[in-house]
Amino acid sequence: MKRILITGGTGFIGSHTVSCLLEKGFDLCIVDSLINSSKKSLERVKEILKKKNIDINEKINFFKGDLRDKSFIDSLFKSSAKEGKPIDGVIHFAGLKAVAESVVDPIKYWDNNVIGSFNLIKSMNENNCKTIVFSSSATVYGNNSDQLISESSNINTINPYGSTKLVVENLLNDIQDKNSRKWKIAILRYFNPIGAHHSGLIGENPLEKPNNVFPLIINAAYEKDRLKVFGNDWPTHDGTCIRDYIHVMDLAEAHITAIDYLFKNNNQLINLNIGTGKGYSVLDLIKTFEKVNNVEVPFIFSNRRDGDSCKLVANNLKAKQILNWNPLRSLEDMCRDGWRWKQMNPKGYF
Ligand code: NAD
Ligand code: UD1
Repeated sequence: MKRILITGGTGFIGSHTVSCLLEKGFDLCIVDSLINSSKKSLERVKEILKKKNIDINEKINFFKGDLRDKSFIDSLFKSSAKEGKPIDGVIHFAGLKAVAESVVDPIKYWDNNVIGSFNLIKSMNENNCKTIVFSSSATVYGNNSDQLISESSNINTINPYGSTKLVVENLLNDIQDKNSRKWKIAILRYFNPIGAHHSGLIGENPLEKPNNVFPLIINAAYEKDRLKVFGNDWPTHDGTCIRDYIHVMDLAEAHITAIDYLFKNNNQLINLNIGTGKGYSVLDLIKTFEKVNNVEVPFIFSNRRDGDSCKLVANNLKAKQILNWNPLRSLEDMCRDGWRWKQMNPKGYF
């Protein structure tokens, strides 16, 4: 079975993807600096697989380290090759993701996200590993007003976090020389991942106060901390902004199909939107959460957030066609699973 290096594998999306990859039998090297996650997520992944009677002990190897340390990354490629199990491909999740923090401290974001990615890609090149799935974001489309955003929609980043995603996309485009095509690259642009593993054993575990709406809805329901809904005068059916929320397990499964697709096909670079193609407003999300979980989500309306977009929904046809992937879980599933995670782990992994 192929060996995959997963960067950022103890984080929110990484840990869910790790559980799916192990279930499929892949052999994994997981790297994380633990700057925004806990190693306990991997203990929980082991629990999930144990319950399914899947033996993974030899297939989950964790290395604590930072991608900005190139000698550390080199050592992973070298020791894997020495073991006779070279790394066949990489899924690159590691990165910082708080938009507001990136505005306050852009250098921190360029240092971590850009230098880290550059070192990784350089080391891959030197070690002749040329298959990579990269976590990009719908943030590269900025304030796009297209009804549905397709991969050819205008790119226009509006904050340093977005710039770091775009510059890594550009680097990947540059190394994929149009004539020689030596690489296999999938750039996945995620829309709004929410929810948690159905078991309630792994989920989103932000170490700082969250800024995204879904963990704030959970906190509002749990701690009765009122959620601020940013604006009720947008030109939408109920005046609140619309987003494309995708269950984190559907997103995790997109990575399995993407790396599998790259392994089985000719060298190429593909950009793919990973969303459901369905838009829901903030109020739709709150009401669904309240209904399926039978809880109240206290909220007040406040001013629009600077830089917000009215509506961001994916055209996901390209991902569906190329990967033969389909998001299967509903908004109800996302709300139910996210709440189960919170109830089972009120303090996250701690
Ligand atoms: P996360 O913070 O839970 O996971 C990222 C992981 O990367 C963390 O475990 C962190 O400790 C690790 N990390 C960060 N910098 C590192 C470094 N230099 N070296 C080694 N490890 C490092 O975030 P997530 O939600 O799982 O996001 C994963 C990826 O997906 C990120 O690149 C993020 O930008 C991207 N993304 C996330 C979302 C979202 O809404 N969650 C949306 C679009 C794109
Ligand atoms: C944010 C990021 C984006 C990133 C995406 C997924 C910004 C400006 N953009 O986008 O780069 O790709 O997350 O990680 O942060 N909302 C409230 N109250 C809140 C928080 C949010 O009403 O306290 C609303 C927002 O106005 C928005 C919706 O909820 O309409 C979703 O917000 P959020 O979860 O922050 O995601 P995005 O805005 O899509």
